[in-house]
Amino acid sequence: MAAGKKEPVVFTGLGGLDKPVSNLLTWVDARFPLMENWKAHLSEYYAPKNFNFWYFFGSLAMLVLVIQIVTGIFLVMHYKPDAAKAFESVEYIMREVPWGWLVRYMHSTGASMFFVVVYLHMFRGLLYGSYRKPRELIWIFGVMIFLCLMGEAFFGYLLPWGQMSYWGAQVIVNLFSAIPLIGPDLAIWIRGDYVVGDATLNRFFAFHVIALPLVLLGLVAAHILALHEVGSNNPDGVEIKENKDPKTGIPVDGIPFHPYYTVHDILGVVIFLMVFSAIVFFAPEMGGYFLEYNNFIPADPLKTPEHIAPVWYFTPYYSVLRAMVWPFFGIDAKVWGVIAMGASTLIFFFLPWLDRSPVKSIRYRPTLHLYFYIVFVVAFLILGYLGTLPPSPVGELVSQVCTVIYFGFFLGMPWWSRWGQFKPVPARVTMQ
Ligand code: HEM
Repeated sequence: MAAGKKEPVVFTGLGGLDKPVSNLLTWVDARFPLMENWKAHLSEYYAPKNFNFWYFFGSLAMLVLVIQIVTGIFLVMHYKPDAAKAFESVEYIMREVPWGWLVRYMHSTGASMFFVVVYLHMFRGLLYGSYRKPRELIWIFGVMIFLCLMGEAFFGYLLPWGQMSYWGAQVIVNLFSAIPLIGPDLAIWIRGDYVVGDATLNRFFAFHVIALPLVLLGLVAAHILALHEVGSNNPDGVEIKENKDPKTGIPVDGIPFHPYYTVHDILGVVIFLMVFSAIVFFAPEMGGYFLEYNNFIPADPLKTPEHIAPVWYFTPYYSVLRAMVWPFFGIDAKVWGVIAMGASTLIFFFLPWLDRSPVKSIRYRPTLHLYFYIVFVVAFLILGYLGTLPPSPVGELVSQVCTVIYFGFFLGMPWWSRWGQFKPVPARVTMQ
Protein backbone atom coordinates (compact mmCIF):
# COMPACT_ATOMS: atom_id res chain seq x y z
CA MET A 1 0.00 0.00 0.00
CA ALA A 2 1.44 3.40 -1.00
CA ALA A 3 2.04 5.87 1.84
CA GLY A 4 -1.00 8.08 2.54
CA LYS A 5 -3.42 5.64 0.88
CA LYS A 6 -5.86 3.76 3.08
CA GLU A 7 -6.63 0.06 2.99
CA PRO A 8 -9.82 -0.56 0.93
CA VAL A 9 -12.65 -1.56 3.27
CA VAL A 10 -14.69 -4.64 2.44
CA PHE A 11 -18.28 -4.20 3.54
CA THR A 12 -20.08 -7.42 4.45
CA GLY A 13 -23.32 -8.48 6.06
CA LEU A 14 -25.49 -6.66 3.52
CA GLY A 15 -27.68 -9.64 2.61
CA GLY A 16 -28.18 -10.37 -1.09
CA LEU A 17 -26.81 -6.93 -1.92
CA ASP A 18 -23.32 -7.75 -0.66
CA LYS A 19 -21.46 -7.26 -3.90
CA PRO A 20 -22.94 -4.10 -5.51
CA VAL A 21 -23.47 -2.23 -2.21
CA SER A 22 -20.06 -3.24 -0.89
CA ASN A 23 -18.45 -2.03 -4.12
CA LEU A 24 -20.27 1.30 -3.90
CA LEU A 25 -19.35 1.79 -0.21
CA THR A 26 -15.71 0.88 -0.91
CA TRP A 27 -15.70 3.45 -3.74
CA VAL A 28 -17.19 6.12 -1.42
CA ASP A 29 -14.87 5.22 1.45
CA ALA A 30 -11.81 5.74 -0.75
CA ARG A 31 -13.00 9.35 -1.29
CA PHE A 32 -14.74 10.20 2.01
CA PRO A 33 -14.08 9.22 5.68
CA LEU A 34 -17.22 7.07 5.81
CA MET A 35 -15.96 4.10 7.80
CA GLU A 36 -13.77 6.30 9.99
CA ASN A 37 -16.77 8.38 11.11
CA TRP A 38 -19.07 5.39 11.43
CA LYS A 39 -16.55 3.82 13.79
CA ALA A 40 -15.65 6.99 15.71
CA HIS A 41 -19.26 8.00 16.38
CA LEU A 42 -21.21 4.73 16.34
CA SER A 43 -19.72 1.26 16.16
CA GLU A 44 -16.55 2.07 18.12
CA TYR A 45 -17.84 4.88 20.31
CA TYR A 46 -17.79 3.20 23.71
CA ALA A 47 -20.54 4.47 25.98
CA PRO A 48 -20.89 3.46 29.64
CA LYS A 49 -22.97 0.31 29.99
CA ASN A 50 -25.11 1.70 32.85
CA PHE A 51 -27.16 4.36 31.01
CA ASN A 52 -30.67 4.67 32.44
CA PHE A 53 -33.85 6.33 31.08
CA TRP A 54 -32.41 9.82 31.65
CA TYR A 55 -30.10 9.09 28.74
CA PHE A 56 -33.01 8.86 26.29
CA PHE A 57 -33.50 12.61 26.15
CA GLY A 58 -30.41 13.49 24.07
CA SER A 59 -31.49 11.28 21.18
CA LEU A 60 -35.11 12.40 21.68
CA ALA A 61 -34.01 16.04 21.36
CA MET A 62 -32.45 15.09 18.01
CA LEU A 63 -35.67 13.40 16.96
CA VAL A 64 -37.77 16.48 17.82
CA LEU A 65 -35.27 18.68 15.97
CA VAL A 66 -35.83 16.56 12.85
CA ILE A 67 -39.65 16.64 13.32
CA GLN A 68 -39.54 20.45 13.61
CA ILE A 69 -37.40 20.88 10.51
CA VAL A 70 -39.43 18.49 8.34
CA THR A 71 -42.86 19.82 9.42
CA GLY A 72 -41.49 23.38 9.20
CA ILE A 73 -40.52 22.86 5.56
CA PHE A 74 -44.08 21.73 4.72
CA LEU A 75 -45.63 24.64 6.62
CA VAL A 76 -43.49 27.17 4.74
CA MET A 77 -44.90 25.81 1.46
CA HIS A 78 -48.29 27.33 2.35
CA TYR A 79 -47.57 30.00 4.98
CA LYS A 80 -47.52 33.70 3.94
CA PRO A 81 -45.19 35.98 5.96
CA ASP A 82 -47.39 39.02 5.36
CA ALA A 83 -49.30 40.81 8.15
CA ALA A 84 -52.40 40.93 5.94
CA LYS A 85 -52.31 37.22 5.06
CA ALA A 86 -50.43 35.33 7.79
CA PHE A 87 -53.38 34.44 10.04
CA GLU A 88 -55.50 33.42 7.06
CA SER A 89 -52.72 31.30 5.60
CA VAL A 90 -52.45 29.32 8.86
CA GLU A 91 -56.25 28.79 8.81
CA TYR A 92 -55.89 27.67 5.19
CA ILE A 93 -53.24 25.13 6.26
CA MET A 94 -55.56 23.88 9.01
CA ARG A 95 -58.69 23.56 6.85
CA GLU A 96 -57.79 23.24 3.17
CA VAL A 97 -54.28 21.83 2.77
CA PRO A 98 -54.40 17.99 2.75
CA TRP A 99 -53.01 16.82 6.11
CA GLY A 100 -52.15 20.47 6.85
CA TRP A 101 -53.79 20.24 10.30
CA LEU A 102 -51.54 17.31 11.16
CA VAL A 103 -48.37 19.07 10.01
CA ARG A 104 -49.30 22.23 11.92
CA TYR A 105 -50.23 20.38 15.13
CA MET A 106 -47.04 18.31 14.91
CA HIS A 107 -45.03 21.53 14.65
CA SER A 108 -46.83 23.32 17.51
CA THR A 109 -46.74 20.22 19.74
CA GLY A 110 -43.11 19.66 18.70
CA ALA A 111 -42.20 23.15 19.98
CA SER A 112 -43.50 22.40 23.48
CA MET A 113 -42.17 18.84 23.51
CA PHE A 114 -38.74 20.15 22.50
CA PHE A 115 -38.68 22.14 25.74
CA VAL A 116 -40.01 19.20 27.80
CA VAL A 117 -37.24 16.99 26.41
CA VAL A 118 -34.51 19.63 26.74
CA TYR A 119 -35.49 20.54 30.33
CA LEU A 120 -35.33 16.84 31.29
CA HIS A 121 -32.01 16.49 29.41
CA MET A 122 -30.60 19.47 31.34
CA PHE A 123 -31.91 18.12 34.63
CA ARG A 124 -30.12 14.83 33.95
CA GLY A 125 -26.92 16.91 33.60
CA LEU A 126 -27.58 18.40 37.02
CA LEU A 127 -28.33 15.02 38.63
CA TYR A 128 -25.17 13.32 37.43
CA GLY A 129 -22.81 16.33 37.27
CA SER A 130 -22.41 15.90 33.50
CA TYR A 131 -21.24 19.51 33.17
CA ARG A 132 -18.18 18.92 35.39
CA LYS A 133 -14.62 18.60 34.06
CA PRO A 134 -13.93 17.47 31.32
CA ARG A 135 -17.47 18.11 29.94
CA GLU A 136 -17.72 21.88 30.49
CA LEU A 137 -17.77 22.64 26.78
CA ILE A 138 -20.54 20.09 26.08
CA TRP A 139 -22.59 21.96 28.69
CA ILE A 140 -21.69 25.40 27.29
CA PHE A 141 -22.76 24.34 23.79
CA GLY A 142 -25.91 22.97 25.44
CA VAL A 143 -26.74 26.29 27.09
CA MET A 144 -26.13 28.06 23.76
CA ILE A 145 -28.55 25.57 22.15
CA PHE A 146 -31.07 26.34 24.90
CA LEU A 147 -30.84 30.11 24.32
CA CYS A 148 -31.06 29.58 20.56
CA LEU A 149 -34.12 27.39 21.07
CA MET A 150 -35.79 30.12 23.11
CA GLY A 151 -35.10 32.63 20.31
CA GLU A 152 -36.44 30.15 17.76
CA ALA A 153 -39.66 29.66 19.76
CA PHE A 154 -40.10 33.38 20.34
CA PHE A 155 -39.71 34.27 16.65
CA GLY A 156 -41.93 31.36 15.58
CA TYR A 157 -44.74 32.38 17.90
CA LEU A 158 -45.27 35.67 16.06
CA LEU A 159 -45.85 33.93 12.73
CA PRO A 160 -49.52 32.80 13.15
CA TRP A 161 -50.27 36.51 13.74
CA GLY A 162 -52.89 35.85 16.41
CA GLN A 163 -53.62 38.12 19.38
CA MET A 164 -51.05 36.38 21.62
CA SER A 165 -48.42 36.34 18.87
CA TYR A 166 -48.85 40.05 18.40
CA TRP A 167 -49.13 41.21 22.00
CA GLY A 168 -46.53 38.76 23.31
CA ALA A 169 -44.00 40.13 20.82
CA GLN A 170 -45.06 43.69 21.67
CA VAL A 171 -44.48 43.15 25.41
CA ILE A 172 -41.13 41.38 25.00
CA VAL A 173 -39.71 43.83 22.45
CA ASN A 174 -40.89 46.72 24.65
CA LEU A 175 -38.73 45.32 27.45
CA PHE A 176 -35.69 46.38 25.45
CA SER A 177 -36.88 49.98 25.57
CA ALA A 178 -36.24 49.87 29.34
CA ILE A 179 -32.47 49.75 28.71
CA PRO A 180 -31.07 53.20 29.59
CA LEU A 181 -30.03 55.50 26.71
CA ILE A 182 -30.18 53.10 23.76
CA GLY A 183 -33.39 51.25 24.78
CA PRO A 184 -36.10 53.11 22.82
CA ASP A 185 -34.05 53.17 19.60
CA LEU A 186 -33.07 49.53 20.07
CA ALA A 187 -36.74 48.50 20.34
CA ILE A 188 -37.57 50.35 17.10
CA TRP A 189 -34.56 48.75 15.42
CA ILE A 190 -35.70 45.26 16.48
CA ARG A 191 -39.28 45.83 15.29
CA GLY A 192 -38.35 47.77 12.16
CA ASP A 193 -41.32 49.99 13.03
CA TYR A 194 -42.80 51.95 15.94
CA VAL A 195 -45.10 49.03 16.75
CA VAL A 196 -44.97 45.32 15.88
CA GLY A 197 -45.95 45.25 12.20
CA ASP A 198 -45.31 43.74 8.79
CA ALA A 199 -41.57 44.55 8.93
CA THR A 200 -41.34 42.74 12.29
CA LEU A 201 -43.17 39.70 10.91
CA ASN A 202 -40.84 39.52 7.90
CA ARG A 203 -37.65 39.62 9.93
CA PHE A 204 -38.94 37.21 12.58
CA PHE A 205 -39.83 34.84 9.72
CA ALA A 206 -36.29 35.09 8.32
CA PHE A 207 -34.79 34.34 11.74
CA HIS A 208 -37.23 31.51 12.45
CA VAL A 209 -36.93 29.61 9.17
CA ILE A 210 -33.28 30.01 8.29
CA ALA A 211 -30.95 32.00 10.57
CA LEU A 212 -31.59 30.26 13.91
CA PRO A 213 -32.11 26.73 12.52
CA LEU A 214 -28.65 27.01 10.90
CA VAL A 215 -27.09 28.14 14.16
CA LEU A 216 -28.98 25.40 16.03
CA LEU A 217 -27.76 22.66 13.70
CA GLY A 218 -24.17 23.93 13.98
CA LEU A 219 -24.41 24.00 17.77
CA VAL A 220 -25.87 20.49 17.95
CA ALA A 221 -22.97 19.22 15.78
CA ALA A 222 -20.48 20.97 18.09
CA HIS A 223 -22.31 19.54 21.15
CA ILE A 224 -21.99 15.95 19.86
CA LEU A 225 -18.38 16.40 18.70
CA ALA A 226 -17.43 17.74 22.12
CA LEU A 227 -19.24 14.81 23.75
CA HIS A 228 -17.45 12.25 21.59
CA GLU A 229 -14.09 13.87 22.26
CA VAL A 230 -14.28 13.34 26.03
CA GLY A 231 -16.84 10.50 26.22
CA SER A 232 -20.19 10.23 27.99
CA ASN A 233 -20.71 10.58 31.70
CA ASN A 234 -23.08 8.10 33.41
CA PRO A 235 -25.39 7.81 36.44
CA ASP A 236 -22.43 6.93 38.71
CA GLY A 237 -20.29 9.84 37.51
CA VAL A 238 -17.39 7.36 37.07
CA GLU A 239 -14.89 8.07 34.26
CA ILE A 240 -14.92 4.84 32.23
CA LYS A 241 -11.80 5.91 30.30
CA GLU A 242 -9.77 5.56 33.50
CA ASN A 243 -10.28 1.80 33.45
CA LYS A 244 -9.29 0.33 30.08
CA ASP A 245 -8.59 -3.25 29.02
CA PRO A 246 -4.76 -3.37 28.69
CA LYS A 247 -4.97 -5.55 25.57
CA THR A 248 -7.65 -3.78 23.53
CA GLY A 249 -7.46 -0.28 25.04
CA ILE A 250 -11.29 -0.32 25.27
CA PRO A 251 -12.92 0.88 28.53
CA VAL A 252 -14.00 -2.22 30.45
CA ASP A 253 -17.31 -0.56 31.34
CA GLY A 254 -17.96 0.65 27.79
CA ILE A 255 -20.18 -0.90 25.11
CA PRO A 256 -20.31 0.14 21.42
CA PHE A 257 -22.97 2.79 20.87
CA HIS A 258 -24.11 0.85 17.81
CA PRO A 259 -25.88 -1.57 18.05
CA TYR A 260 -26.45 -1.43 21.84
CA TYR A 261 -27.66 2.13 22.31
CA THR A 262 -29.15 2.61 18.85
CA VAL A 263 -31.48 -0.29 19.72
CA HIS A 264 -31.92 0.89 23.33
CA ASP A 265 -32.93 4.37 22.12
CA ILE A 266 -35.68 2.89 19.91
CA LEU A 267 -37.55 2.11 23.14
CA GLY A 268 -37.38 5.79 24.13
CA VAL A 269 -38.48 6.83 20.64
CA VAL A 270 -41.52 4.50 20.70
CA ILE A 271 -42.66 5.73 24.15
CA PHE A 272 -42.07 9.35 23.13
CA LEU A 273 -44.03 8.94 19.88
CA MET A 274 -46.96 7.43 21.79
CA VAL A 275 -47.12 10.48 24.08
CA PHE A 276 -46.50 12.85 21.16
CA SER A 277 -49.28 11.31 19.03
CA ALA A 278 -51.71 11.30 21.96
CA ILE A 279 -51.21 15.07 22.30
CA VAL A 280 -51.31 15.77 18.55
CA PHE A 281 -54.51 13.76 18.02
CA PHE A 282 -56.41 14.29 21.26
CA ALA A 283 -55.21 17.52 22.94
CA PRO A 284 -53.13 19.67 20.56
CA GLU A 285 -53.96 22.84 22.52
CA MET A 286 -53.13 21.11 25.81
CA GLY A 287 -55.66 23.18 27.72
CA GLY A 288 -54.24 26.42 26.32
CA TYR A 289 -50.67 25.62 27.42
CA PHE A 290 -49.32 24.52 24.02
CA LEU A 291 -51.57 26.76 21.89
CA GLU A 292 -53.11 29.69 23.71
CA TYR A 293 -56.84 30.26 23.10
CA ASN A 294 -56.34 33.97 22.35
CA ASN A 295 -54.14 33.01 19.45
CA PHE A 296 -57.14 31.74 17.51
CA ILE A 297 -58.23 35.40 17.24
CA PRO A 298 -56.46 37.45 14.50
CA ALA A 299 -53.96 40.07 15.73
CA ASP A 300 -55.65 43.37 16.49
CA PRO A 301 -53.30 46.28 17.27
CA LEU A 302 -56.26 48.25 18.68
CA LYS A 303 -57.40 45.63 21.17
CA THR A 304 -55.04 44.57 23.97
CA PRO A 305 -56.02 41.17 25.46
CA GLU A 306 -56.90 41.32 29.15
CA HIS A 307 -54.13 38.94 30.15
CA ILE A 308 -50.94 38.53 28.13
CA ALA A 309 -48.87 35.50 29.11
CA PRO A 310 -46.00 33.82 27.27
CA VAL A 311 -46.09 30.11 26.45
CA TRP A 312 -45.34 27.81 29.44
CA TYR A 313 -41.65 27.25 28.66
CA PHE A 314 -40.90 30.96 29.09
CA THR A 315 -43.04 31.55 32.17
CA PRO A 316 -40.42 30.79 34.88
CA TYR A 317 -38.21 33.59 33.51
CA TYR A 318 -41.23 35.84 32.97
CA SER A 319 -42.10 35.42 36.66
CA VAL A 320 -38.54 36.42 37.59
CA LEU A 321 -39.04 39.55 35.48
CA ARG A 322 -42.33 40.38 37.19
CA ALA A 323 -40.86 39.70 40.65
CA MET A 324 -38.63 42.77 40.38
CA VAL A 325 -40.87 45.61 41.53
CA TRP A 326 -38.51 47.98 43.35
CA PRO A 327 -36.22 50.58 41.81
CA PHE A 328 -32.68 50.13 43.21
CA PHE A 329 -29.87 52.70 42.93
CA GLY A 330 -32.23 55.03 41.09
CA ILE A 331 -32.65 52.47 38.29
CA ASP A 332 -36.17 51.63 37.16
CA ALA A 333 -37.70 48.32 38.41
CA LYS A 334 -38.37 47.33 34.78
CA VAL A 335 -34.62 47.48 34.03
CA TRP A 336 -33.90 45.25 37.05
CA GLY A 337 -36.60 42.90 35.79
CA VAL A 338 -34.91 42.61 32.41
CA ILE A 339 -31.49 42.11 34.07
CA ALA A 340 -32.87 39.44 36.43
CA MET A 341 -34.66 37.64 33.60
CA GLY A 342 -31.48 37.64 31.47
CA ALA A 343 -29.41 36.49 34.46
CA SER A 344 -31.84 33.64 35.21
CA THR A 345 -31.04 32.06 31.83
CA LEU A 346 -27.36 33.04 31.53
CA ILE A 347 -26.51 31.67 34.98
CA PHE A 348 -26.63 28.12 33.52
CA PHE A 349 -23.33 28.90 31.73
CA PHE A 350 -21.51 29.10 35.05
CA LEU A 351 -22.75 25.83 36.54
CA PRO A 352 -19.52 23.87 35.81
CA TRP A 353 -17.60 26.34 37.97
CA LEU A 354 -20.23 26.95 40.64
CA ASP A 355 -20.43 23.27 41.60
CA ARG A 356 -17.49 22.39 43.89
CA SER A 357 -18.74 19.01 45.08
CA PRO A 358 -15.96 16.38 45.26
CA VAL A 359 -18.23 13.87 43.44
CA LYS A 360 -20.32 14.28 40.30
CA SER A 361 -23.37 12.09 40.71
CA ILE A 362 -26.25 12.70 43.11
CA ARG A 363 -25.96 9.00 44.01
CA TYR A 364 -22.83 9.69 46.07
CA ARG A 365 -23.71 13.14 47.37
CA PRO A 366 -25.19 13.86 50.81
CA THR A 367 -29.01 13.61 51.06
CA LEU A 368 -28.94 17.33 51.85
CA HIS A 369 -28.01 18.01 48.21
CA LEU A 370 -31.05 16.06 47.05
CA TYR A 371 -33.23 18.33 49.21
CA PHE A 372 -31.61 21.40 47.62
CA TYR A 373 -32.41 19.99 44.16
CA ILE A 374 -36.02 19.31 45.17
CA VAL A 375 -36.48 22.84 46.56
CA PHE A 376 -34.93 24.30 43.39
CA VAL A 377 -37.19 22.26 41.08
CA VAL A 378 -40.30 23.13 43.11
CA ALA A 379 -39.38 26.86 43.04
CA PHE A 380 -38.81 26.64 39.27
CA LEU A 381 -42.21 24.95 38.74
CA ILE A 382 -43.98 27.52 40.94
CA LEU A 383 -42.33 30.35 38.99
CA GLY A 384 -43.51 28.67 35.79
CA TYR A 385 -47.08 28.36 37.07
CA LEU A 386 -47.24 31.93 38.39
CA GLY A 387 -46.01 33.23 35.04
CA THR A 388 -49.16 31.90 33.39
CA LEU A 389 -51.44 33.77 35.84
CA PRO A 390 -52.44 37.45 35.83
CA PRO A 391 -50.41 39.51 38.35
CA SER A 392 -51.69 39.48 41.96
CA PRO A 393 -50.22 40.62 45.31
CA VAL A 394 -49.89 37.03 46.61
CA GLY A 395 -48.43 35.82 43.30
CA GLU A 396 -45.92 38.67 43.40
CA LEU A 397 -44.74 37.76 46.90
CA VAL A 398 -44.47 34.04 46.11
CA SER A 399 -42.58 34.76 42.88
CA GLN A 400 -40.15 36.96 44.83
CA VAL A 401 -39.49 34.13 47.33
CA CYS A 402 -39.03 31.64 44.47
CA THR A 403 -36.71 34.04 42.61
CA VAL A 404 -34.52 34.27 45.73
CA ILE A 405 -34.48 30.44 45.95
CA TYR A 406 -33.69 30.16 42.22
CA PHE A 407 -30.67 32.46 42.38
CA GLY A 408 -29.71 31.25 45.86
CA PHE A 409 -29.42 27.68 44.52
CA PHE A 410 -26.82 28.75 41.93
CA LEU A 411 -25.00 31.51 43.80
CA GLY A 412 -24.79 29.50 47.04
CA MET A 413 -23.58 26.39 45.19
CA PRO A 414 -19.82 27.04 45.68
CA TRP A 415 -20.54 26.63 49.44
CA TRP A 416 -23.39 24.17 49.84
CA SER A 417 -22.04 21.76 47.20
CA ARG A 418 -19.18 20.98 49.64
CA TRP A 419 -21.37 20.45 52.71
CA GLY A 420 -22.30 17.08 54.18
CA GLN A 421 -21.09 13.51 54.22
CA PHE A 422 -20.18 12.18 50.73
CA LYS A 423 -20.46 8.47 49.94
CA PRO A 424 -17.48 6.59 48.46
CA VAL A 425 -17.58 6.50 44.64
CA PRO A 426 -16.99 2.97 43.23
CA ALA A 427 -14.07 2.38 40.86
CA ARG A 428 -16.37 0.74 38.30
CA VAL A 429 -19.89 1.67 37.15
CA THR A 430 -22.76 -0.07 38.96
CA MET A 431 -25.87 -1.59 37.39
CA GLN A 432 -28.72 -0.36 39.60
C1 HEM B 1 -31.34 20.47 20.42
C2 HEM B 1 -31.01 20.24 21.65
C3 HEM B 1 -30.06 19.15 22.10
C4 HEM B 1 -29.70 18.00 21.48
C5 HEM B 1 -30.18 17.47 20.13
C6 HEM B 1 -28.77 17.31 22.35
C7 HEM B 1 -28.21 16.07 22.08
C8 HEM B 1 -27.44 15.35 22.95
C9 HEM B 1 -27.08 13.96 22.79
C10 HEM B 1 -27.51 13.07 21.61
C11 HEM B 1 -26.32 13.61 23.85
C12 HEM B 1 -25.75 12.21 24.12
C13 HEM B 1 -26.84 11.32 24.68
C14 HEM B 1 -27.24 11.72 26.07
O1 HEM B 1 -26.33 11.89 26.90
O2 HEM B 1 -28.45 11.89 26.34
C15 HEM B 1 -26.15 14.78 24.68
C16 HEM B 1 -25.41 14.84 25.85
C17 HEM B 1 -25.31 15.94 26.68
N1 HEM B 1 -26.01 17.12 26.55
FE1 HEM B 1 -27.28 17.59 25.02
N2 HEM B 1 -28.55 18.07 23.48
C18 HEM B 1 -29.32 19.20 23.37
C19 HEM B 1 -29.42 20.22 24.30
C20 HEM B 1 -28.66 20.29 25.47
C21 HEM B 1 -28.78 21.34 26.45
C22 HEM B 1 -29.74 22.53 26.34
C23 HEM B 1 -27.87 21.07 27.43
C24 HEM B 1 -27.53 21.83 28.68
C25 HEM B 1 -27.71 23.09 28.87
C26 HEM B 1 -27.20 19.83 27.09
C27 HEM B 1 -26.21 19.21 27.84
C28 HEM B 1 -25.69 17.95 27.59
C29 HEM B 1 -24.67 17.30 28.40
C30 HEM B 1 -23.99 17.86 29.66
C31 HEM B 1 -24.45 16.04 27.83
C32 HEM B 1 -23.47 14.95 28.33
C33 HEM B 1 -24.27 14.07 29.21
C34 HEM B 1 -23.51 12.91 29.79
O3 HEM B 1 -22.55 12.45 29.20
O4 HEM B 1 -23.93 12.52 30.91
N3 HEM B 1 -27.72 19.39 25.90
N4 HEM B 1 -26.85 15.82 24.12
